[in-house]
Amino acid sequence: MEGAEIVRLNLRINGQPHEVDDVWEGESLLYVLRERLGLPGSKNACEQGECGSCSIYLDGQLVCACLVLAGQAEDREVVTVEGLGGSNDLHPVQEAFLEAGAVQCGFCTPGLIVAAHELLSRRPDPSESEIREALAGNLCRCTGYEKIIDAVSLAGRKMAGGST
Ligand code: FES
Ligand code: FES
Repeated sequence: MEGAEIVRLNLRINGQPHEVDDVWEGESLLYVLRERLGLPGSKNACEQGECGSCSIYLDGQLVCACLVLAGQAEDREVVTVEGLGGSNDLHPVQEAFLEAGAVQCGFCTPGLIVAAHELLSRRPDPSESEIREALAGNLCRCTGYEKIIDAVSLAGRKMAGGST
């Protein structure tokens, strides 16, 4: 393909440095994460930035990994859903989604968890409308969203150390 370059990509993912060879710099960061690095938590649904299932942090900003070119991730800091909990522990947001019954098929869940985490990091006690606005870019075909809203509220209380 004209203009395509094969590059070695250096980036940090979930706190660890990674060097990835033979990357076409026009391929998506989502492809690099899933297919080259074996991190399947970020889901691949629309590949057009419309469903939020591939939500990650890039240098602390919430982005859709399907819209980030691999070449744009050079020397950047990536955090995926796999990086939110400990190796043996679920993050409180993950716990809350399970406890609130907000997971059905689960396909949307990783992206929702990253988006909810981002919301709660800047707004620890969000209103329902703030939650709905923050998650507007994350599509769920199963739950009808009510339990997702409950889960995010519960996660906020858990993260504040309050009652669950
Ligand atoms: S797969 Fe990235 S937004 Fe849908
Ligand atoms: S739980 Fe199935 S798409 Fe959300």
